[in-house]
Amino acid sequence: MNTTTSVSAEGFTLQLSRRVLEPEEVISGEEAKAYANRRDNRTLSSKLIATDIVEKLSLTPASNVLEVACGPGQLAYELWKVVGCSIMATDGSPELIEAATDRYKETPIRFVTENLHSHTGKEEYDAVICKDSFHYFFDSEKAVAEMLSLLKPGGKIYIFDLCRNVRIEEVEYRLSSIQASHEQMRFLRSLNASLTVQEFEEACGSAKVSVFYPLGFSQENLKAHETEIGADVVKEFQLSSLFSVYVIEKGGVNRE
Ligand SMILES: C[S@@+](CC[C@H](N)C(=O)[O-])C[C@H]1O[C@@H](n2cnc3c(N)ncnc32)[C@H](O)[C@@H]1O
Repeated sequence: MNTTTSVSAEGFTLQLSRRVLEPEEVISGEEAKAYANRRDNRTLSSKLIATDIVEKLSLTPASNVLEVACGPGQLAYELWKVVGCSIMATDGSPELIEAATDRYKETPIRFVTENLHSHTGKEEYDAVICKDSFHYFFDSEKAVAEMLSLLKPGGKIYIFDLCRNVRIEEVEYRLSSIQASHEQMRFLRSLNASLTVQEFEEACGSAKVSVFYPLGFSQENLKAHETEIGADVVKEFQLSSLFSVYVIEKGGVNRE
């Protein structure tokens, strides 16, 4: 991993050699409003990830899914469109849950304010999913244990997140596609708070984890979204070293 960089924005300089935590876990106040209304379009990524979740977790319309740290709710919405299963989506931020509830009020998705650290519903879910949020959790080991506790035996966790094993050229390319300097700083801060693949595996302890890094989607998934992929000027999903996917199984102990 190339850890020496001089990439910076608004005074924040990226240093990939160590994890630097976000200033706070839950996004609140004005920051939450700005996050809910940010301009960069995440529709394509949410669609690709929703299909990836259905494939990797073998979800069916009978599945009972919990999304934790759902933010303004787009992934839950895209997942509901793909599989039509029962979905509860929670976040510690009342502002973001309000935005999600308002935006997707025509759907049966239940958006509820809940912090992962005091979450209700132990052993209730077939699947727990988490997108672009794991790097916010200060204590990674505790967060994995908390998510596992919400799963039924045999259930699975799907985590999509930034990864500090990234190639610096991909950071520079992604940064150049972000217009506002505050958003650039947020991106660098989030990347610096993310885990390396090795740190993530350590956080899983004896739980069985499958690592999908660098990021890749199935041919069927890419084919189903080829028009939107063709129109994506950022080409975000060719930036494959920027993201990782982890699937953790409850109950397994053998690492693949
Ligand atoms: C970068 S946002 C991602 C939101 C959404 N998943 C998305 O992809 O747009 C991170 C989210 O994690 C939430 N979060 C962080 N720590 C949390 C916790 N302990 N419990 C619940 N939500 C948390 C924040 O409030 C925020 O909405």
